[in-house]
Formats: sequence, C-alpha cells, structure tokens
Amino acid sequence: MLEVKNVSVEFVSGDNILAVDDMSLQLKDGSKTAIIGETGSGKSVLMLAMIRLLPSNARISGEILLDGENILDMDKKRLRQVRGGIISYVPQGGGNSMNPLLKVGFQIGEPLMEHRKASKKEAVAEGERLLRKFHVDEGGGKASDYPHTFSGGMRQRAMVAMGISAGARFVLADEPTKGLDTGRIALVEDTFKQLKKETLLCVTHDMNFAAGISEELCVMYAAQQLEYGRTQEVISNPLHPYTRDMLNAMPENGMKYVDVGFAPSHDSYLNRDMGCRYRDRCRDCTAACEKMPPVTDIKGHKVRCWKYVT
Ligand SMILES: Nc1ncnc2c1ncn2[C@@H]1O[C@H](COP(=O)(O)OP(=O)(O)OP(=O)(O)O)[C@@H](O)[C@H]1O
Ligand code: SF4
Ligand SMILES: [Mg+2]
Repeated sequence: MLEVKNVSVEFVSGDNILAVDDMSLQLKDGSKTAIIGETGSGKSVLMLAMIRLLPSNARISGEILLDGENILDMDKKRLRQVRGGIISYVPQGGGNSMNPLLKVGFQIGEPLMEHRKASKKEAVAEGERLLRKFHVDEGGGKASDYPHTFSGGMRQRAMVAMGISAGARFVLADEPTKGLDTGRIALVEDTFKQLKKETLLCVTHDMNFAAGISEELCVMYAAQQLEYGRTQEVISNPLHPYTRDMLNAMPENGMKYVDVGFAPSHDSYLNRDMGCRYRDRCRDCTAACEKMPPVTDIKGHKVRCWKYVT
C-alpha cells in the first residue's frame, strides 16, 4: 500500500508558493487511481514529491508511506532501490525522453539489469516480451528499432513497459496521453488495462481517459483535493461544484457550462484566511465560503465544500 497523508509542498526560493496543500490518497495494492485537475493545480508536483524528485527549494510535509515506511525519511540508498524497483515513474511527456541512441527493447529491459542484476540478454528478452504484451509489437522486431521509428503513442506505451520491467509494484504516470489523438489515447488506455497486479496512479486532463482506466478518482484544484471517491460515483454523482462544472463543460454533456474564471494565484494559498479557492467561480457560494472549507467524508466519498458540512 502506498499512502499519501496530509502532504503539502511549498517552494521557498523567490516568492514562496504553496503548490500542494494537504493532499491525502490511499493506493491499495492493485488499485487504479486517476488524478484530474486543471493546469497548475499541483498534480505533477504531488507525483514528484511521492518519489522525492523535487528540487532542493521544495519543502515537503506530511507522510508518504510505502507499506508503512515513510519515503520522506529514506536515505539515498533506499531511495535508489525504491525508484524503479518498487515505484516507477513515467514523466509528463515521457515518450520524448527515451534515449535516441539505444534500441527500444534494451531501454525497456535496462531497469531489470539495474534492480534485478539481469544480463543484457535477459533485459532485451523482457523488453521484447513487454512490447508484445502491450501490443506495440504484434509482428516482432520492434525491440531492435530505435525510438525515432516509434509514434508518440508507441513511445508512451514503451515508457510504461520500461516502468514495470524491473517488477515495480506501483506505476506513477504523469499525463500519458498528452498530445495524442483519440486513436492513440485508446492504445495507451489498452496498455494501462494490461496492468493487473500493479497499482496505478495516473495524472490526466482527460475525464474520459480517467473513467476508462481508474476505479478511484481524485479531483484537484488550486493545490487541493476537492473531491475523491469511486470514479463512477464521482462522475455520476459529483458533489463538488468544480467537478460538476467540469463535467458539464464536456462536449458529450452538451458544454452546458462555459467557464471564464481562473484559479487564484499560488502565492495567495499561504494565506489561510482567503476562504474557498473556488468561490470566485462558484455559483453556490454563500457567506460561509469566506472561510476555508474542511473535507467531509460521506461514506468514503470525500469533498471539500461547505455545502456538505453539517
Ligand atoms: N521547481 C519549482 N519551483 C517553483 N514553483 C514550481 C516548481 N515546480 C512547479 N512549481 C509551481 O507549482 C505549481 C503546480 O505545478 P504542477 O506542475 O504540479 O501543475 P500541474 O497540475 O501538473 O499542471 P499541468 O497540468 O500544466 O501539468 C505551479 O504554480 C508551478 O508553477
Ligand atoms: S465551499 Fe462554497 S464557494 Fe467553495 S465550492 Fe463549496 S459552495 Fe462553492
Ligand atoms: Mg503537470
């Protein structure tokens, strides 16, 4: 189990910025979770915090527990074992970060050499197997090709393969469908559906993709978690006004909501007296919303909004 407990991230050089504010997630073994939220809401920073890949000006508080062991307290040696060996991370735009000089099959299998002391031959064989598993290489032979011969969607799927080749139990993927057309998004979705025993945490802007790959959905806005629950429950019965507005703005829902507002600026989040961060855009806003709403848990469906505080 990987558990994020009340995690906040503040950047402290220049103007102090609160990028992640009191986030909690419970990733049970084998579970699939998506995080959705608009640009700048803190999705990538949270994911980078979970594997301690943030720059030195980041101050992380709270706990990130891997089977009870706090990742924030791990020494460098233990962190090296965990990264890639237990938790793999597929970065935003990761398909473009493959090494152009190495054959794809070898790159996919390389973590196996580092974490499991496999030979080069075993690593390449695992790369070939995973490319077939993820339907990137139905006919065989793609493992010997270089990344530039792969489409964006194929590279993204190859990156997920690389993420799990050393047997990582947790896959953290940041925007794996960014810039891909609908057909390629479907192929990436297919790849994620091949992850059975692995635990998945995936950041996305795409509600349909989130619905296709996840059982749990976390909605982020202005550094906070506004809603968190079973994906189908959140989509069919959105509690938070932001989630409801986001769903109403989707073309398949008739674009019934056209939003013209922006989230408040990040440097204001350190001011705890600013109230609900969605209040300038919210049609349900009342005087109570001038204070920060707490999180209410309604039978496991969590929401940060005064409407649900009894
Ligand atoms: N190294 C850094 N130093 C200072 N501020 C940072 C740093 N990295 C990110 N931020 C700020 O933290 C906030 C959250 O950024 P983050 O990248 O997590 O957003 P995001 O939700 O992933 O957005 P997107 O959907 O565009 O990828 C932003 O205001 C960003 O400018
Ligand atoms: S707390 Fe108030 S302003 Fe914020 S989302 Fe709920 S109703 Fe809207
Ligand atoms: Mg991001």
